[in-house]
Amino acid sequence: MKGLIILFYPFEMERYLETLLGERDSLLREMEEIALQETIPVVTPAVGNFLNLMVTINRSQSILEIGTAIGYSTVWLARGAKKCGGHVTTIDMNRDRLSRAEGYFERAGLLQSITPLKGDARKILPSLTPGYDFVFVDAAKGEYLDYLNLIDPLIAPGGILVVDNVLFRGWVVPESNFAPKYERMVGGLRRFLQELSQNPEYVTTVLPFGDGISVSRKVEAAPA
Ligand SMILES: C[S@@+](CC[C@H](N)C(=O)[O-])C[C@H]1O[C@@H](n2cnc3c(N)ncnc32)[C@H](O)[C@@H]1O
Repeated sequence: MKGLIILFYPFEMERYLETLLGERDSLLREMEEIALQETIPVVTPAVGNFLNLMVTINRSQSILEIGTAIGYSTVWLARGAKKCGGHVTTIDMNRDRLSRAEGYFERAGLLQSITPLKGDARKILPSLTPGYDFVFVDAAKGEYLDYLNLIDPLIAPGGILVVDNVLFRGWVVPESNFAPKYERMVGGLRRFLQELSQNPEYVTTVLPFGDGISVSRKVEAAPA
């Protein structure tokens, strides 16, 4: 089973999916370029497009994002939200990244559609008002289980939870080969996926593109 990573980290597939997206506008292109130059880990364009599509299909009104960075995924989300009158609240603990993100939100004409919150999501989440119908998680992989417990009370019945990096370069797949320094992160992601997929309150699937995306729907209570 050694070498499994080659099967599960599909750079070529990702590049191909990107060619199917058509041209991104100059703002998204610029953000992609900056992220590449400064090694800021942002979602791939195919994942950005997926988020936009999900928000639009779901006609999401109240969107929560954990992990803004410079706002690349936020712009994809907010553009979807704007079409159906929705709003994005996005959290990041990195002051510099968040203020750069705000600059991009302004340039994108999205200031009215986005509320950026600065701080540790684990501290901010308990203060938010429940009722989000779409939540996107893309922050510290080692903290995903913490986020899950804090997000659960915030997601409305029928709401969607999307989590990035759940396959982490394919290393989350059992018997794959990775450096010992990633042991904790990989273990945390395996526990996260186990817990999420066995949680009867959610219906979950994992999509093997980008860095692995989990998509869950919180079940609605059966009518009494
Ligand atoms: C992978 S980047 C987000 C990329 C962004 N979603 C995109 O695709 O454009 C992860 C971000 O999560 C932030 N982060 C990590 N742990 C956090 C925490 N506990 N609370 C808030 N932000 C956190 C980091 O500062 C970083 O900017």
